[in-house]
Amino acid sequence: MSLQKNIEEQYGKRLDKNDLYNSDYSRFSEGERSEKLKLLVKEFLNVTTNITVLEIGAGQGGNISLLKEIGFSDQTIFMNELLPERIAHIKKNYPGIKIFEGNALDINFDQKFDCIFQSTVFTSILNEHDRVKLANKMWKLLNHGGIILWYDFIYNNPGNADVKKVSVDEVKALFALATKTKIVKVTLAPPIGRRVGKLYNLFNVPFLRSHILGVFQKQ
Ligand SMILES: C[S@@+](CC[C@H](N)C(=O)[O-])C[C@H]1O[C@@H](n2cnc3c(N)ncnc32)[C@H](O)[C@@H]1O
Repeated sequence: MSLQKNIEEQYGKRLDKNDLYNSDYSRFSEGERSEKLKLLVKEFLNVTTNITVLEIGAGQGGNISLLKEIGFSDQTIFMNELLPERIAHIKKNYPGIKIFEGNALDINFDQKFDCIFQSTVFTSILNEHDRVKLANKMWKLLNHGGIILWYDFIYNNPGNADVKKVSVDEVKALFALATKTKIVKVTLAPPIGRRVGKLYNLFNVPFLRSHILGVFQKQ
């Protein structure tokens, strides 16, 4: 099955799995991710008015406000998404933002970017060959001095066969040409986080975290 068909099927099944939203868990985990991500970007990139970001697999555009907090703007934020209903949502809610529609692998992007962001896209791609192709495409689209910004999980979820972890070693291999790399663990694992609710920060120690944030810089 093609990558596009695979993704369409997976997300068709997921429509009723939105119970995570608006919970204490999502509030705390998103807050933690945002703070750590902002610090990481600041360490590697001076986000001035002409510095651009492309988010691959942007979903409904949920990361746009975070990108704006970092210093990007309607003029410097570019989105990519494959699923038509998600593209329609971005267009309706963020009319100023440019979108490259379709499978990121097939698009002829007409420019390069200073930051290329992926958040929980690679774990939706089960085939290793497609993962390598997408990582290579992202690398090609990156300006010199720019960064790949990565957020994804590193452990499998036995209850969800539609997604597959990307281990730390696999991510490092995908961006082996990076001259400077930083990886930090983040996000209290969902099965624990959902149970502990407001006690998120008490339980959020590195060995209970399920995701990583990574930066891979191209010289
Ligand atoms: C789990 S969602 C994450 C959405 C968003 N990045 C976020 O952090 O909320 C993964 C998204 O990646 C998109 N996607 C997966 N493979 C893609 C590809 N090859 N090209 C473009 N989008 C893709 C899916 O359609 C889906 O909307």
